[in-house]
Amino acid sequence: MTLELKNLTKTYGSLTVLENVSLKLEDIHSLVFIGPSGGGKTTLLRLIAGLETPDSGEIIINGHPVEYGSEETLREYRKRLGMVFQAYNLFPHLTALDNITLPLVQVHGYKPERAREEALILLERFHLADQAHKRPAQLSGGQKQRIAICRAVALRPEFLLLDEPTSALDPEYTSEVLDLIEELREEGMRLILVTHEMGFARQASDYLLFVGDRGIIAQGPPAVLFEGQGDDRVNRFLNKVLKYN
Ligand SMILES: Nc1ncnc2c1ncn2[C@@H]1O[C@H](COP(=O)(O)OP(=O)(O)O)[C@@H](O)[C@H]1O
Ligand SMILES: [Mg+2]
Repeated sequence: MTLELKNLTKTYGSLTVLENVSLKLEDIHSLVFIGPSGGGKTTLLRLIAGLETPDSGEIIINGHPVEYGSEETLREYRKRLGMVFQAYNLFPHLTALDNITLPLVQVHGYKPERAREEALILLERFHLADQAHKRPAQLSGGQKQRIAICRAVALRPEFLLLDEPTSALDPEYTSEVLDLIEELREEGMRLILVTHEMGFARQASDYLLFVGDRGIIAQGPPAVLFEGQGDDRVNRFLNKVLKYN
């Protein structure tokens, strides 16, 4: 996957979150955003997902610019990617199975039978088959988030965007969710991920962006970024978040 940002600027009212950010990454398999809270990671991810529109500049993915101008093109574009948010966003009144099949049927035009088959295969594969007929309220946080990931993956996205997928979880559920993401990565799923789990960021990324101060403060493969010889702001952040790790 290639990702290019060209003079990307995003503001919310008088707040400039990203200012003239440019970047060109080639052959990306697993891109991870880290950085301080409020630094703009979610904003950048949502811009890439076509859920926010930049004030100016462009995002070009695999050679094609994201076309923010047309709602219809944007909708088609969004169908090609999977998105997982911090808090699971499952429909509370639907079973795990129906949460997965609903978008397959309604957005992607699958026949209900086929959607069900696809969903059951995924649930089986990720050891969630026993949970298929439970509603979100009957599931643990880790199970809910794994169902949410299954739902995104069922759509066979070109890439999967995840925004702090473990930050709303009780600590005992973190590893089962990270294991699932790691499994997907090993199978070749393209990922763009925001995380505060530095161990995971280090292991699961092939490239890291440190987002803050209106742009990308530092970037590089994990071995380089975690080396700690770069920008002071990165080192200060890493010292804080790694202190008790
Ligand atoms: N929809 C919005 N309206 C106004 N301000 C926003 C909105 N979304 C994010 N912000 C602000 O933009 C800044 C960057 O936020 P965000 O991208 O969520 O950072 P991060 O994900 O790195 O914590 C923060 O100051 C946040 O309060
Ligand atoms: Mg965020």
